[in-house]
Amino acid sequence: EWIKVFAPATIGNIGPGFDVLGLSVKYVGDTLEARKIEEGIVISEIESDMPLSTDPEKNTAGIAAAEVLKILNITGGVELKIKKGMPSGSGLGSSAASAAAAAFATNYLYGDQLTREELILPATRAEAFVSGAFFADNTAPCLLGGATLTRSCMPLDVTKIGSISNLLIVLVTPDIVVLTKEARDILPTQVDMKDFIYNMANSCLITAAFAKDDYGLFARSLNDAIVEPARSKLIAGYDDVKANALRAGADGVAISGSGPTVFAITNDPRKVRFIQDAMVRTFRMHGVESTSVITEV
Ligand code: HSE
Repeated sequence: EWIKVFAPATIGNIGPGFDVLGLSVKYVGDTLEARKIEEGIVISEIESDMPLSTDPEKNTAGIAAAEVLKILNITGGVELKIKKGMPSGSGLGSSAASAAAAAFATNYLYGDQLTREELILPATRAEAFVSGAFFADNTAPCLLGGATLTRSCMPLDVTKIGSISNLLIVLVTPDIVVLTKEARDILPTQVDMKDFIYNMANSCLITAAFAKDDYGLFARSLNDAIVEPARSKLIAGYDDVKANALRAGADGVAISGSGPTVFAITNDPRKVRFIQDAMVRTFRMHGVESTSVITEV
């Protein structure tokens, strides 16, 4: 009577689409097992490289499960076992993945009454409890798949956009700690109108690219005049990593979420390893070790 759920890693934000555009990726993610119990939420096991709380009130999975039970108005409980497939604080939506998996599993165990769209709110509430900020650019793509657009968080208004079938993504996670709070505090509070227009144009282009399954459009869109220049200072070697990835053939490079993971895009399977090597080597030149993976949407 155990069920098993896989929740993918997510890139949120996609480049200029700050707090708006998110994307789920294959192969990397959390695996969660769940079963019904009489009452309460129990996290009986966490397999992770880093110590994480099994207190259901402090873990996003436990909080999300409780939120779903509250919505369903049910007195039963769930037991959860979590296998983390990505490090926390990496910019890959780790806490969102655990929250989404637990929300999905709890709903499924109790009659599958809520849609995936309806699960975004409890999952996002759980993530907000841990991250301190309420944004759905990780939970939404994690639950809906492909790319998503969050028009508003309050009230929650999320649209699934689509996917790009020949998109290859190199994810490189340097061994650097970047706290989301710090990566948000560093952002400018005012922006130039020209930078706003530039980011808006590129964000709209990303939306069009995923709606039309058009890699060519996406390849022109990963340009960010506002957030990336501020955040790149928190990632040692970022400018060189980006330059060398582009030199190795990538069509675009950006920071995943609030970092420190950096991602590069291509649609050419022959280039993808060169790009990966160039990024890993460049981080190393800056004294930074990294882990990396090639993925797709
Ligand atoms: N959109 C958020 C940010 C996500 O970039 O700050 C953090 O993972």
